[in-house]
Amino acid sequence: MKITITIDGWSSCGKSTLARQLARELHYVYIDSGAMYRAITLYFLRNHVDWTNPDAVEQALARIKLEFVTNHKNGQTETWLNGENVEYVIRDLVIAEKVSEVASVKEVRDFAVSRQQEMGKNKGIVMDGRDIGTVVFPHAELKIFMTADESVRVRRRYKELYEKNPNVTLEEVKQNLARRDYIDSHRAISPLRQAEDAIVLDNSHLTMREQLEIAQHWVKERL
Ligand code: CDP
Repeated sequence: MKITITIDGWSSCGKSTLARQLARELHYVYIDSGAMYRAITLYFLRNHVDWTNPDAVEQALARIKLEFVTNHKNGQTETWLNGENVEYVIRDLVIAEKVSEVASVKEVRDFAVSRQQEMGKNKGIVMDGRDIGTVVFPHAELKIFMTADESVRVRRRYKELYEKNPNVTLEEVKQNLARRDYIDSHRAISPLRQAEDAIVLDNSHLTMREQLEIAQHWVKERL
């Protein structure tokens, strides 16, 4: 028997790390829904799409093909946009600065959510994001809501971004996480919130091994 596992929560609290760990252990598919919003944002920025104009958004979305492809060198799933591997570029702060605005557009969410539901229709999936347990898979067997102290989240994301670009500052990262969390939790459509039947996992003081063991225990209970 396979189940559906959803992991939602604040920016940079380790959702994708846990989702990857669980998918690997359970031999499930891992889908990073945030990567879809990031890739759409990249397309809009590159093509100067005005995302406040619904017609322009619809036309642009019709030209977007998103795929998740396994990189056989490291076993990780990577995001492809119209035949190009964009996994590296979508993690840039330039994308992070705009992604929450783009993700609040109705047409964009309809596009992304229908693809996410299609990918999860046979269960055996771990998906992380903001509205996965509330909107995308409201009947998922296991819903995790992740959180971590703000300072921990800022330091983790700063470290990741600094490795790519030493010009990034801690303050910039802090501002970006705060702004995204505000927009994501206050938007009209599918705002970030904890599903009523979600279990909270605060990983501020947990190692990766410990967070995995806790989540594995919850999985066992459901199987
Ligand atoms: O990894 P990080 O916490 O930085 O964020 P992400 O998962 O890559 O998501 C980037 C952005 O996409 C979020 O800040 C949201 O604005 C949006 N998003 C969303 O609206 N709904 C989702 N299911 C996933 C992401």
